[in-house]
Amino acid sequence: MNQTIETIMNRRSVRFYASRPIPREALRTILEAGHAAPSGMNARNWRFVAVEDPLFKNKLLSLALPRYQAWLEKAPEALKNMRKEIDAACPDPIYYNAAAIIFVIGSGMTSDLDTPMVCQNIMLAARSLEIGSCWVYFGQLPLDDLKVRNILELQEQEKVYGPILLGYPQRGFPEASPKNAPVIKWI
Ligand SMILES: Cc1cc2nc3c(=O)[nH]c(=O)nc-3n(C[C@H](O)[C@H](O)[C@H](O)COP(=O)(O)O)c2cc1C
Repeated sequence: MNQTIETIMNRRSVRFYASRPIPREALRTILEAGHAAPSGMNARNWRFVAVEDPLFKNKLLSLALPRYQAWLEKAPEALKNMRKEIDAACPDPIYYNAAAIIFVIGSGMTSDLDTPMVCQNIMLAARSLEIGSCWVYFGQLPLDDLKVRNILELQEQEKVYGPILLGYPQRGFPEASPKNAPVIKWI
């Protein structure tokens, strides 16, 4: 296996993060790797908001938690059980105390196709630098808050992908989970 395939195969969602910050240089490299993603008509209609400020991270968490709990109450039993273990392990079941929260913000005709590739590049680049990552859809829960939208400078036509958490893993990278074989029809 070459280095690239190894990085792809070894990427896992990390949910336990060390408190140490990510050097700005590494963060910049990771975001530049995100920015290298392909896009329809080479439009590159995306931008990043990288949140490292502990106060703003706390603000996001305090807005997300009650929304998450309301969602959890109505969630199917299987999902509740799945989240139980995660919720018991960390006082922050949304952003997992990650060093950085990257809001990947896309707009334009092909953004639903382009921007997830940006996110994947970010997660793979992070893995190649021994930095953990996790796409956390629940991390979008505070985005109905006007103050948060203003701070992110979110425009009407923009859509948030991720956010992607980044941080050094506190407990290493999880083992690869068992995955079913890909469905392939050879012709
Ligand atoms: C669109 C999307 C949304 C996700 N949202 C969450 C989330 O809110 N919280 C979380 O802990 N993991 C989230 N994940 C991570 C998935 O649970 C994870 O990718 C999946 O279980 C496979 O595990 P792996 O990434 O370690 O291979 C999300 C992943 C994707 C692609």
